[in-house]
Amino acid sequence: MRTALAYHSTGISEKQRLAFEKDVLEGLQEVPRRLHSKYFYDATGDALFQQIMHCPEYYLTRCEMEILRGQAGQIVQSLQQHAPVFDLVELGAGDASKSFYLLKELLRVGAMDTYFPIDISRNIIAQLQQSLPAKLPGLTVQGLNGEYMDMLQAARQITGRPKLVMFMGSSIGNFTPAEALQFCTRLRQQLQPGDLLMIGFDLRKNPQTILDAYNDKAGITRAFNLNLLERINRELDGDFDLSQFTHFPTYDPLTGACRSFLVSLKEQAVHIAGKTVRFAANEPLFMEISQKYTVEEINELGSRSGFKPAEMFYDSKRWFTDVLWQCR
Ligand SMILES: C[S@@+](CC[C@H](N)C(=O)[O-])C[C@H]1O[C@@H](n2cnc3c(N)ncnc32)[C@H](O)[C@@H]1O
Repeated sequence: MRTALAYHSTGISEKQRLAFEKDVLEGLQEVPRRLHSKYFYDATGDALFQQIMHCPEYYLTRCEMEILRGQAGQIVQSLQQHAPVFDLVELGAGDASKSFYLLKELLRVGAMDTYFPIDISRNIIAQLQQSLPAKLPGLTVQGLNGEYMDMLQAARQITGRPKLVMFMGSSIGNFTPAEALQFCTRLRQQLQPGDLLMIGFDLRKNPQTILDAYNDKAGITRAFNLNLLERINRELDGDFDLSQFTHFPTYDPLTGACRSFLVSLKEQAVHIAGKTVRFAANEPLFMEISQKYTVEEINELGSRSGFKPAEMFYDSKRWFTDVLWQCR
């Protein structure tokens, strides 16, 4: 019998594979059909996302890097006014290439004890565990592979120290505003009064700048989206024909919602895990939302979910902000 600890050659457990299959089949029955963007991140997806971060159109990484590299000293001073020493939990840490600058400063001033990177990608956690201690001597890294909330709960069982939770890279934008409120409220319930939360938000700006960021000329974002179909083919015994789906991003400047779709180029049947899904010609498959915020919306989200907005750090163009909230 397989157990939850038995890993496939793909690097996911049987339990994770079953959840993946269930979410894919359910999402494909919804109207409109959808896939969950958290499944973008297998080893190929991780590598493609790291390429996206270097695309000239993808301003988000450069803006947040400017904040974390240029203002790490001020951010740490501000953090220490609220809590002198804490454990750092990072939700969806990715390659931690931006958080690196904050980690370095926190270590320098002795403000951080242990770094708990959380990520649904096992590959990412293994990479961080291996590479970070060499780059930042003295850093204790305890990687947690799994879903945000489950792993935050696991971190709380390991340590009762005050916490700084970081959720960077505009990952909050992968929720609709209603889902973001639900998520932040649940986060607040997992934390103690005085704990800190730092979130990266992408701000509203010229609509074309936003749309271009999700439609890079080199086609990396397109490949990133199509890779999820390939992952389904490989891990769930699917037969998506990738050449029969086209990448189609949209941005609505009224709501701030940037959405990515894959559009079926013809009427076609796809088989996944023994089930058949029929696509009409030109039918959109919703892949991901990347919500853009105003400063007022950010403050309202913090207040409504039980946090006290403490400080906002901006890049020089004011295209992106990392905000610091404290649990009330
Ligand atoms: C957009 S990337 C951002 C990475 C990093 N925070 C940054 O700013 O560069 C999102 C990361 O979150 C992880 N992720 C997505 N959904 C997740 C979930 N539900 N639970 C845990 N990790 C998740 C992905 O594997 C990926 O590494």
